[in-house]
Amino acid sequence: MRAKALVAVAFAAALTLVGCSSPAPAASPSAGAASSAPAGGAGGEVGVFTWWADGGEKAGLDGLVAVFGTDCKDFKFVNGAVAGGAGSNAKAKLAADLQNGNPPDSFQGHAGAELQDYIRADQVEPVNDVIEGLGASKVFPQNLLDLLTVQGNIYSVPSNIHRANVVWTNPAVLQKAGVTEVPADIDAWLADMAKVKASGVSTPLTIGGTWTQVQLFETVLIADLGVDGYTALFKSGGDWGSDGVKKAVAHYAKLLSYANTASDGDDWPPAIDAVAAGKAAYNVMGDWAVAEFTLKNKQDGPDYGYFPVPGTDGVFDFLADSFTLPKGAKNAAGAKDWLALIGSAEGQKAFNLAKGSIPARTDVPASDFPKYQQSAMEAFKTNKIAPSIAHGAAVSLAWNSDISSAISKFYGSKDQATLIADLVAAAKKNAA
Ligand code: GAL
Repeated sequence: MRAKALVAVAFAAALTLVGCSSPAPAASPSAGAASSAPAGGAGGEVGVFTWWADGGEKAGLDGLVAVFGTDCKDFKFVNGAVAGGAGSNAKAKLAADLQNGNPPDSFQGHAGAELQDYIRADQVEPVNDVIEGLGASKVFPQNLLDLLTVQGNIYSVPSNIHRANVVWTNPAVLQKAGVTEVPADIDAWLADMAKVKASGVSTPLTIGGTWTQVQLFETVLIADLGVDGYTALFKSGGDWGSDGVKKAVAHYAKLLSYANTASDGDDWPPAIDAVAAGKAAYNVMGDWAVAEFTLKNKQDGPDYGYFPVPGTDGVFDFLADSFTLPKGAKNAAGAKDWLALIGSAEGQKAFNLAKGSIPARTDVPASDFPKYQQSAMEAFKTNKIAPSIAHGAAVSLAWNSDISSAISKFYGSKDQATLIADLVAAAKKNAA
């Protein structure tokens, strides 16, 4: 990561001013903010809540903060990050803070159903003016804006787009096992896992805690149902008891039989690190994995490879981090400048270079990015898009929580009929 972080910092230093355009607040409860507000800038502290606390994720946030620090010198960025991949610890703290009337100035959410939870709970303000100022549909894909919109208002600014259906591989481990082709479907992939195991690798596939298992499972659902069948699961009347779901659950059970033992709270970097170190062949992870490989000084090609989860070629399992303006934010003007920075072409380049994701904006040149991200940009343009369950695009926070409980229970019991019954019940309870 060091090299990329340096790129991001050097880039930040060369920027023209992109943020700090909001008018200074008339009065702000934030200490000293109103009195010290400089012309053309809101001033004061801007408290930002994420779960990007460590490693490659923190490097992405640092890239943005560097630009903010350069362009918006009158602000003090206050980092409210709570560690734990996919917001596994952060979301509960955020919910409590919002409930208690103690919101940050801006928080990370996911475009799609999860964000709509916050909108319906009346916890976030529209940011139409920020989006308009950035260029709206001239610079953001309309289908992404639609995911951020409720009743004509847009409630957050997307920072990036991640792909969730990626298998990350160790080429040397695969070579030793005699695996030379990308498997076409889950059965072919399972056959390759048997070869890897026979070559002496006891756990060919790595997993982490529950949310990583939900993510693996969602990719198997896409493989076995196809993108249309998968997407139909989230509509009213979606059939979670179908033969396709049964097939996916059976495949998922077999995949787990090749995986390491995991505990509920295990985070994702060790699962990637095991692949990087040659202790395993495969991990299914979002493309924030690129930042972790880079942090371990691993090179795309010689040290790691990647392909879409077998059976999902041509599908982009999508999620987008998107930043909000909470109701009651102490420094709303400062938060808007933070949002304007996140949404700027310069901010998106600095952030995404370090994070492994691709810009949500369509006007950041692909040639500015390394090979993996160039391939993801092309895939996002040409593939069918499927919404991620584990990362808030497909289901509400409550539905995600019920699916996660079912997957966690299954990890212990391996009882396929009960998992299907639990998934059916979760859909019945939560589907709109
Ligand atoms: C996702 C988030 C990504 C990445 C990942 C692992 O929910 O959208 O940006 O941080 O969790 O923590």
